[in-house]
Amino acid sequence: MRYLVTGANGFIGREVIKHLRGEVRCLTHKEFLTDHPKNIVHFKGNLSDRQSLDQAVEGVDVIIHLAAITRSKNKQDYFLINTLGTKNLLESAEKAHVKRFIHISTWALDPRGGAYSVSKLKAEEEVRKHKNWVIIRPADVYGDQGWLKTLVKFIEKSPLVPIIGDGKQLVSPVFVEDVAKAISASSLKKTLYKNYTLCGPELLKFDEMTKKISQFLKLKRRIIYVPKRPVILFAKLMSLAGFPNIEEMVRRQLSFKYYKSENNPKELSFNPINFEKGLTRVLSS
Ligand SMILES: NC(=O)c1ccc[n+]([C@@H]2O[C@H](COP(=O)([O-])OP(=O)(O)OC[C@H]3O[C@@H](n4cnc5c(N)ncnc54)[C@H](OP(=O)(O)O)[C@@H]3O)[C@@H](O)[C@H]2O)c1
Repeated sequence: MRYLVTGANGFIGREVIKHLRGEVRCLTHKEFLTDHPKNIVHFKGNLSDRQSLDQAVEGVDVIIHLAAITRSKNKQDYFLINTLGTKNLLESAEKAHVKRFIHISTWALDPRGGAYSVSKLKAEEEVRKHKNWVIIRPADVYGDQGWLKTLVKFIEKSPLVPIIGDGKQLVSPVFVEDVAKAISASSLKKTLYKNYTLCGPELLKFDEMTKKISQFLKLKRRIIYVPKRPVILFAKLMSLAGFPNIEEMVRRQLSFKYYKSENNPKELSFNPINFEKGLTRVLSS
């Protein structure tokens, strides 16, 4: 099996490539991975450079498309890379008769969910116009990097934990290794044109998750609920003053979540560990 993996340098991508057997070509946009398995080769390219994509997909059976802009100060970047970049890659893949295009989307798809969410929604629309796709929508992926460690650090330091809104927004922490294994398993299946949502075993409200983490850390913390409207207004003002990230993050957090999977993720041998086990693994590493 010959793979092209985009976003292999990223948080999820680095885990995915550990589980792939066969020839793995990684579309490398900035830095090369230094510590990687032997079956990996780098291919210099960029989602906005059609020529590099045409070359990268040559002779490939399966594309695992993880690359995306997940944080940016410039809202336009989300659209240029996540939507148009995906369209570029789909066009190259179709020309090269790639047998399977695994698109990594998100469960946070909401027209009011900020630029990232909208760009991923539009990317899915592009995917569905093409051939041989499978869409995987991970929920809140945690591991040795990212949001969980930041939240844990905050809870450790602060006796008060502010939460935007009523704290009832859905979260479903899912361990990065479980997501990576499911993505890898989907590359070996024959079924196409299916959507899968990869949630963790627990579907929680944001305040419940915060309480779980505090209990796990054996810390007594008080949650303060901050009304949504003034936060959004503040975020909008900050965005006008040149800090678009805050509005983007608030909207993303409050966005609608596709928590129901259209198809059964067990088809991808998806058997996620619970949050407590995951917390133990992450915090002991
Ligand atoms: N993490 C989560 O909780 C989560 C949840 C749901 C869905 N997802 C989705 O899962 C995928 C991977 O997420 P992640 O958390 O691993 O993201 P990440 O750590 O931000 O990695 C994104 C990757 O995309 C690459 N990339 C960015 N712009 C590119 C371009 N123009 N051309 C080629 N490559 C480019 C980056 O390369 P450089 O590092 O070299 O810039 C990086 O390797 C994304 O599609 C994301 O939307 C993530």
